[in-house]
Amino acid sequence: MSIRATHLHCHVDIARPVRLGPGFSLYMPQSGSFVVEPGVDFRSNFRCDIEGDGKVEIGAGTVFTSNTLIQCSTLVSIGKRCAFGQSTLIVDGYHRYQDHERHWAEQGYDLRPIHIGDGAGISDNCTIQADVGERAMVASGSVVNRPIPPYCLAVGAPARVVRYFGPPERREEVLAATRRRRRNRSRPATGEQAL
Ligand SMILES: CC(C)(COP(=O)(O)OP(=O)(O)OC[C@H]1O[C@@H](n2cnc3c(N)ncnc32)[C@H](O)[C@@H]1OP(=O)(O)O)[C@@H](O)C(=O)NCCC(=O)NCCS
Repeated sequence: MSIRATHLHCHVDIARPVRLGPGFSLYMPQSGSFVVEPGVDFRSNFRCDIEGDGKVEIGAGTVFTSNTLIQCSTLVSIGKRCAFGQSTLIVDGYHRYQDHERHWAEQGYDLRPIHIGDGAGISDNCTIQADVGERAMVASGSVVNRPIPPYCLAVGAPARVVRYFGPPERREEVLAATRRRRRNRSRPATGEQAL
């Protein structure tokens, strides 16, 4: 297996052993970085688009089953021994759209780095737009648009924490932070127009 560089300004560092399964591809037209630790399994159809000087880091022993797409303009950092079910999208931003005088494509992006902690499990058909804590589990078909704390099961679109299974001494701290976030979300943002 050889890796052909088609653009010499980007940085690709894939430690061995690694499996680059069929359909593995990178799109890095500028000065992005793609750094992979040993033992990562890109089983099939893994695709990563890195714009500008974005950086994607993948920890040792992580597994991507099939049809993962990562779109990164800032940082996507994935820990060790994570697993991603089929058809996962990980994206660190989206188009701004609320200026009615300009097409959304001309309004730029809201971007935020994404961190996925060691041992996180992402089930099939999930969209990840925010951090996922260490050993957290995200159920099939979930859309993570707010951070998921460590050792929690999150389900649905948008993903909500429904269970904590971590060390008992951290339970209150984690669940209190989750409740705080929920309360803050239910307050309307300043200047937001109610319908
Ligand atoms: C994450 C998962 C393993 C959790 O299973 P579990 O621990 O048995 O969870 P439960 O079935 O007890 O569900 C807990 C709650 O979350 C809900 N829930 C579970 N999965 C859900 C989903 N995908 N979407 C929405 N809600 C879900 C359940 O209805 C339940 O809610 P309730 O308490 O109100 O009834 C499982 O939901 C899942 O997604 N499995 C798919 C694994 C996968 O993708 N494998 C292939 C890739 S390797």
